[in-house]
Amino acid sequence: MPTIRANGIDLAYECHGTGSPVLFVHGFPLTGKLWAHVVEPLHLDYKLIIPDLRGMGLSQPSIEASMAAYADDLAALLDAVGETRPAAVVGLSMGGYVSFEFYRRHRKRVAALVLADTRCEADTAEKARDRAAMAARVQEEGAVIVADAMLDALFGPAASLELRAAWRGIISSTDPTGVAAALGAMAARPDSTPTLAEIDVPTLIVVGEHDALTPPADARTMHEGIPGSRLAVIPDAGHMVPVEQPEAFSGMLRDFLAELDR
Ligand code: MLT
Repeated sequence: MPTIRANGIDLAYECHGTGSPVLFVHGFPLTGKLWAHVVEPLHLDYKLIIPDLRGMGLSQPSIEASMAAYADDLAALLDAVGETRPAAVVGLSMGGYVSFEFYRRHRKRVAALVLADTRCEADTAEKARDRAAMAARVQEEGAVIVADAMLDALFGPAASLELRAAWRGIISSTDPTGVAAALGAMAARPDSTPTLAEIDVPTLIVVGEHDALTPPADARTMHEGIPGSRLAVIPDAGHMVPVEQPEAFSGMLRDFLAELDR
C-alpha cells in the first residue's frame, strides 16, 4: 500500500481508476479495508481514493487528532494525488463525523455526500467520559480491548464468525496511540446538527437495519434535516454495512453516483 505525505503525516492510501473522484472515509478504529468490496464494481467508472486515517491502519501513528486534522489530511491527500475536482465523500460512522467537518472546512471540494451508519449529534458528557476512560486503558492494554468492547455492536446478527474474527484482528492491530487520539477527537467533536440544513449537495444516508451503534433513528434525524436527502435502510446488516452487505452497498452507491450531474 503506498503512502504519501499529506498535512505533515504519512498517509497510507489506495487509489483506483480515473473517473470522477470518490473519497472514502472509514470509521473507528478501522482501515480502508472497510471499502474493499466497492473497488471491483466501481473502479472502471470512478477514481476511488481510499485512505487509512492518521493513526489507523498503515498510516503514521499520531498523538494529535481532531475532526479538523482528519479533514485537513483528506484535503491534503486529494492535493497529493493531484485531484482538484470536487469529490463524492463517503463516510461511515466516525468517517461521517469527519465528512461533516470536511464539508464545513472544504465545501468546494464536495460534490456529494454519503453518510453511512453515522450520526450528527456530538457526544454526551457521559459518552465523552467513557471515551477518556477507554483511551487510558488502550494505552496500557492495547487496541484489543476496543475490539472486544465493540465487536458485538459492530455487526448484525447475520454476520459470519469469519467476518467478525477478521475485523477483531484488524482493530486489535491498530496502534494504541492512534486509537486513543481518535477517542479524544470523537469526544471533542462539534455537534453537526446545525450543519444539516446547510448541506446543499446530493446526499444519501445509509444505515443497517440492526445498527446498534448509530441506529436507524439517527439516520432518520439526518434525513429529516438535510434538504432533499435520501435514506436507505439496509436489511440484514448492522453497523458495518459495506462488509456485511457488500453487494447492496455497492449497488446503492453506484446508482447514487450515476445520478450525479458531473
Ligand atoms: C465508529 O464506528 O466509527 C464509532 O463506533 C463511532 C463512535 O464511537 O461514535
